[in-house]
Amino acid sequence: MRIVLGVGGGIAAYKVASLLRLFTEAGHHVTVIPTEAATRFVGTATWEALSGNPVSNSVFDDVHQVNHVRLGHEADLVVIAPATADLLAKAATGQAGDLLTNTLLMAHGPVLFAPAMHTEMWQHAATQANVETLRSRGVAVLEPATGRLTGSDSGPGRLPEPEVIFEAAMALVQGQADYQLPLAGRTVTISAGGTREPLDPVRFLGNRSSGKQGVALAVAARNAGATVRLLAAHMEVPAPAGVEVVPVETALQLREAALAAAADSDVVVMSAAVADFRPAEVSDTKIKKRDDSADPVITLVRNPDILHELVELRNSAGHGKGQQLIVGFAAETGDSDGDVLAYAEAKLERKGCDLLVVNHVGADKVFGQDTNSVVILSRSGAEPQEAAGTKTEVSAAIISRIGFELNHVSPRA
Ligand code: CTP
Repeated sequence: MRIVLGVGGGIAAYKVASLLRLFTEAGHHVTVIPTEAATRFVGTATWEALSGNPVSNSVFDDVHQVNHVRLGHEADLVVIAPATADLLAKAATGQAGDLLTNTLLMAHGPVLFAPAMHTEMWQHAATQANVETLRSRGVAVLEPATGRLTGSDSGPGRLPEPEVIFEAAMALVQGQADYQLPLAGRTVTISAGGTREPLDPVRFLGNRSSGKQGVALAVAARNAGATVRLLAAHMEVPAPAGVEVVPVETALQLREAALAAAADSDVVVMSAAVADFRPAEVSDTKIKKRDDSADPVITLVRNPDILHELVELRNSAGHGKGQQLIVGFAAETGDSDGDVLAYAEAKLERKGCDLLVVNHVGADKVFGQDTNSVVILSRSGAEPQEAAGTKTEVSAAIISRIGFELNHVSPRA
């Protein structure tokens, strides 16, 4: 097979030498096209020596061979690694300023981008829009790996391991996998809003959840190619188009809907604010105040922990044992006994879910707001990942992380 390996100008370029070896050892003919910036990280001599082929990044070398047309035409596969934010932008807008971008415009076969950049650059709306544009054109864009980045920061943005890129490239050529969208072919159930626990026909115990985060998650999951089921408790925002909506009122109704939906879901995200307690008795008629009677006392009973039940069910029986990904949310304020993260880590253990998205709440934070700042904790032991911005941006980061876990992390519990 003829492979064009485009190398972008990022520090991860050094890892691509291993990827090149994997391709050549598998018997493929590889032409490396580094960008000008890439050669500052790894010189052309390395690429020539490892590929056994001449290396150029100029459309003005070997003009008689019309390289910028020939290389793209002849390639059975084009792999770009590391795909920098700059290269993704150039590819998305069809720029053709050097040999690599020319080759991309001429490529007939499958094209795979393996991004690597700092988390903020990856999560930036411009980069995400470019990725979406490329994917909508049928270009495969891998999710970056999560972990330690070049500096002291960590998060999504690491170049996927050379073996992962190699396997993805082979699967793409063989048509075995659909890498177009990270959640293509997946069913994702998301609970949103706040439950309402009735006291009588006109009163209820509720909470301040607006449903904005859950709805933004549903939109992000839908845009990532998933079939989305939204279990909608009370929400102040409308449900989005293109998702199946299951309306619920109480925690018990949500439990029933969640357990039923989980049976065929690849992912369950519990972003709803579920009441931990409900009134022990619900009056059929309106509770009246009477001057001659004592003040009423409301007795509460505990609601089942739906998230925990979902995990137990996944671990014990069907529901694709070990395959289903379960994501919980935690709203924490911290107090004198422990800070937000300490409480969240304990909750992750207690609930047993795979990812826990932690909101730091206060009087003016989170509920009803359009922005949010979260930390994603993982039971697989990965570093906590921070995401901040509008609820849309935070949701994109959470869904991107879910896509990564599904596609690259081995079966769970
Ligand atoms: N949750 C649930 N069922 C409940 C309560 C909560 O499934 N009865 C889910 C929420 O949807 C969320 C997660 O559990 O994903 C965390 O909810 P939270 O209320 O913050 O945690 P609690 O277990 O209630 O712990 P604590 O009261 O100590 O904060």
